Amino acid sequence: MANKNDLEGLQIPEHIAIILDGNGRWAKKRMMPRNYGHVQGSKNVERICRAAYNMGVKYLTVYAFSTENWSRPEDEVETIMKLLNNYLKDCIKLTTKNNMKVRVIGNISRLDESMQKRIRELEEISASNTGLNLQVALNYGSRDEILRAMKRMMVDYDKKAISLDEIDETLFSEYLDTKDIPDPDLLIRTSGEQRLSNYLLWQMAYTEFYFTNVLWPDFSEKDLEDAVRYYNSKERRFGGLTNG
Ligand code: FPP
Repeated sequence: MANKNDLEGLQIPEHIAIILDGNGRWAKKRMMPRNYGHVQGSKNVERICRAAYNMGVKYLTVYAFSTENWSRPEDEVETIMKLLNNYLKDCIKLTTKNNMKVRVIGNISRLDESMQKRIRELEEISASNTGLNLQVALNYGSRDEILRAMKRMMVDYDKKAISLDEIDETLFSEYLDTKDIPDPDLLIRTSGEQRLSNYLLWQMAYTEFYFTNVLWPDFSEKDLEDAVRYYNSKERRFGGLTNG
């Protein structure tokens, strides 16, 4: 188990965002159906949540299903939805035990009504927990999130609840699904792909990126530690100059 001593002296990112990639290839390598990879991938989310929390990470945001993922074969979408629905159900039971606070980001109105109800229940039950803040991106796309935010903002503008002069980055952030959540310090993408895939585009303006060839179901606590070490090798300047 990761303990703080293994990482002594290292700065732990407050917020880690992860693109869980490679479930399908992981299964294919084992001559198993893709859906088997998703089952193992979803189990790994739980392991990595625990490891991250033990390390001192406060926010973890995982990309579970994108607005583009609907174009996958129907049976794969169905399996993923079932897995996510079960995951949310287990989360309702586990959230108090783990003191975890869960929030779903993305446009949940396209999900079936029972899933939406489960999401609302989960968010409500866990709202006052003080442990790991887990954000699950579900039917999430960053461009879609920005457009939804902009539309809500325009409604407030029409109602004269806000004025043009008030609109700045801070105010706009409050219309995003990630309201009140600090921007990610570190992004991890597994499976060797090096792109953002419409993930947290606004929020990751100054995030450090860590790409690894490890496929998501194999991504271990040790891999998470490697990512944190990489993060520590970077000097974050946020567009400014090096000190000294
Ligand atoms: C990534 O691998 C898989 C997805 C983006 C779909 C579903 C994610 C899960 C089942 C993880 C579950 C998450 C939670 C919160 C329980 P891929 O299918 O893109 O793999 P490939 O690139 O090898 O085809």
